[in-house]
Amino acid sequence: MLALMKFLHIAAAIVWLGGIVFMLFALRPAAGQLAPPQRLPLITQVMGNFFKRVWEGIAILLVTGLVMLLGVGMKNAPLGWHLMFGIGLVMFALFGHLFFGPYRRLKLAVAAQDWPEGGRRVGQIATLAGLNLVLGTLAIAAVIFLV
Ligand code: HEM
Repeated sequence: MLALMKFLHIAAAIVWLGGIVFMLFALRPAAGQLAPPQRLPLITQVMGNFFKRVWEGIAILLVTGLVMLLGVGMKNAPLGWHLMFGIGLVMFALFGHLFFGPYRRLKLAVAAQDWPEGGRRVGQIATLAGLNLVLGTLAIAAVIFLV
């Protein structure tokens, strides 16, 4: 049971962090070759598809993480586990902000064909996603090294 929780937990983390790496380091540089009227609708659509998977991943990370954490008990859990819980909550909040703030405004900008505004929003999303990539990496380092 605990092994299944850990498996699902790690799978969700791979989807989330791997997706960010793909968006930032594969899609974004390549899409830079397209003009904004082609680039921004494409990026918006790709993000929309990916963000559905992120919402699912967050639900899985939270449930499986809490099952593992509470299974051991907060008092007995090592420092790294507490750090992962805390950092994970910050990551969830950042993603919620990204989704309901800049991403919602990006969709509005694309619908209005306001390309400069759309470009600004993509930049904000990239910054927040990059921050989550760093936080996710730190959370994993914490749970591995601080036991
Ligand atoms: C806030 C919710 C979270 C909680 C309560 C939580 C809890 C835990 C716990 C208790 C473990 C240790 C399992 C063990 O060593 O047996 C763990 C491992 C792990 N967590 Fe989280 N976690 C959360 C969020 C995240 C996030 C956001 C990520 C990355 C996107 C993540 C990635 C991982 C990975 C990759 C491992 C496996 C590390 C290893 O091999 O030991 N977790 N988590």
